[in-house]
Amino acid sequence: MAISSRTTTPRPKQGGPPDSLYRDIVGASGRMQRIFRLVGKVAPTDSTVLLLGESGTGKELIARSIHLRSRRASGPFVAVNVAALPESLIDSELFGYARGAFTGATADRAGLIEAADHGTLFLDEIGDMPISTQVRLLRTLESSEVRRLGDNAQRVVDVRVIAATHRDLPWEVAEGRFREDLYHRLNVVQIDLPSLRERREDIGLLASYFLERASARVGKPGLAFSTEATQLLEGYDYPGNVRELENAIEHAVVVADGPRIRAADLPAAIRSPRLLATGATPAAEAQRGRPPEAGQRSDGAASRAYEDARATWSLAEVEKEHIQRVLARHRGNATAAARQLGLSRTTLWRKLREYGLKRAGGPGGA
Ligand SMILES: Nc1ncnc2c1ncn2[C@@H]1O[C@H](COP(=O)(O)OP(=O)(O)O)[C@@H](O)[C@H]1O
Ligand SMILES: [Mg+2]
Repeated sequence: MAISSRTTTPRPKQGGPPDSLYRDIVGASGRMQRIFRLVGKVAPTDSTVLLLGESGTGKELIARSIHLRSRRASGPFVAVNVAALPESLIDSELFGYARGAFTGATADRAGLIEAADHGTLFLDEIGDMPISTQVRLLRTLESSEVRRLGDNAQRVVDVRVIAATHRDLPWEVAEGRFREDLYHRLNVVQIDLPSLRERREDIGLLASYFLERASARVGKPGLAFSTEATQLLEGYDYPGNVRELENAIEHAVVVADGPRIRAADLPAAIRSPRLLATGATPAAEAQRGRPPEAGQRSDGAASRAYEDARATWSLAEVEKEHIQRVLARHRGNATAAARQLGLSRTTLWRKLREYGLKRAGGPGGA
């Protein structure tokens, strides 16, 4: 696990146009265009970058792109999924250890921070990092030195850190789960990746891009979307964001028989989103409170698991989720969302700030 959570990008090809570094990131929406400009500005610096966004919105892709456009491009890109590392291993994985530091430490070993020397360290799901590790990490970032577990020597490292999380870090700070000093140290340049449902204009573009890639890979060149498939793809809410769209298209390409991708080739969730009770889609919302109709039980287990999880939520978590859902339903239009919620716009803005929620367009719009 520890090792498979670590990956290295290939070295960039020399001599290609600089645009080739963006080749794999698709986005025509204003929000994505602004992000590309920001990436272009921040990449050549050594600033720490904090990437925020739901799972599947492209945080890792952007992190790699920043690395490839930096002066560190020929150095390593070391990605660590903090959430995937057991708490008992995370410190030794990140900081390394000296022989004899603990049972089983039979030789000196460098950690992932040292492995990223002269390159970029991507700390994915940083919001899941244990507090004691946060303290060590902050010390390393401030001194540019690593001390391996059980070792007295300080080793100088030259590492640029890019961190990402789907969590609301100010909220985690307020709850005492994330160190405020580390938050400020990481939050030098913040990039907020919008969910796919907040930039629906990108769905078609991404769908064509993934179709071309998947059909070439699977050996079915020339596949196209039928009108019904396009309508379904463009109408869906994508709780799993770009990753879900990408997987849906690969699925469709694999099962498609003729020259067209038909509605029936799409995954069930997109074909009939009403069956999905994740609570995140307007369709699910419309369904809320009504017992499932006969034959609509394929996602009963998922729905029950969701309801079980919700039963442990605080009132604030329920309120936050509801506000997010209403905003998504009104496509980020704060006036319409406030009206539905029975709040003044000012109160809605205060709550958005309080919960660290963002909406397309920012204040002044809608
Ligand atoms: N703008 C984009 N253009 C092309 N592919 C994208 C884009 N955003 C995400 N992807 C693809 O979607 C998948 C999920 O992206 P990833 O960066 O892993 O998301 P996250 O780290 O936010 O969970 C990856 O396969 C990635 O290549
Ligand atoms: Mg990720």
